[in-house]
Amino acid sequence: MSRSSPVGSPPDVGVLLPAAGLGERAGGGTRKQFRPVAGVPLLLRSLQLFAGHPRVAAIVVALPPADAERPPPWLADVAGPRLRVVAGGATRAASVGAALAALDPACHIVLVHDAARPFVARETVDAVIAAAARGVGAVAAVPVSDTLKRARGDARVVETVDRAGLWRAQTPQGFPRRVLEEAYRRAGASALEATDDAFLVEAAGHPVELVLDTSDNIKITTPEDFVLAEALANR
Ligand code: CTP
Ligand code: MG
Repeated sequence: MSRSSPVGSPPDVGVLLPAAGLGERAGGGTRKQFRPVAGVPLLLRSLQLFAGHPRVAAIVVALPPADAERPPPWLADVAGPRLRVVAGGATRAASVGAALAALDPACHIVLVHDAARPFVARETVDAVIAAAARGVGAVAAVPVSDTLKRARGDARVVETVDRAGLWRAQTPQGFPRRVLEEAYRRAGASALEATDDAFLVEAAGHPVELVLDTSDNIKITTPEDFVLAEALANR
């Protein structure tokens, strides 16, 4: 284990798990964050890795308001006394903002991780924590491997985009707490439309680095993703 490993440090990391979405694109009866993959709900899968991580001091889960009033019991069973549950907002960023406001003040590093990414690897989490502990923003990301086209509204190709230097941003994303708080404060109401937290931190002028992630850290978005998720879970 390298000297920069975050594992030997005291627990000072707070994890925000936005899980308050409607899951509209996934469809189906049960909201996607509560839907089981190989028997285990997505949110529980996402929570498990952080709940067992020695650096994690607190976990705040943002749930749809009705669920926040009566959270599923397995949340506290897995996360124990470090868990807080808050009602999420109308957008992802509003949910993250609500969770950040409820985070234990002792946490100086904040990770934000989509509940809809149940296959995040421990190595990714450690690398994101290590970068945030150095004072920079960190984004789990994978290099773009497809050929990219820009097209007009009628699908006529305008150009092939050079993919050199292009990455797909995933989560977790990690930040020094004061940096994330300042970014949200500065962005004000416009923050509510942001689809990723690093964007706000970049806009506030803070450095952000990419951390090489695995391509199986997919975001479950559509019904097809649930088929893929079953396969990944049963590997
Ligand atoms: N999220 C949230 N609060 C919202 C919207 C989204 O906490 N108001 C969370 C989702 O629960 C998910 C993550 O943000 O864990 C990423 O969002 P996405 O994949 O878009 O999930 P949904 O918004 O639930 O899905 P959809 O956009 O298809 O409705
Ligand atoms: Mg959404």
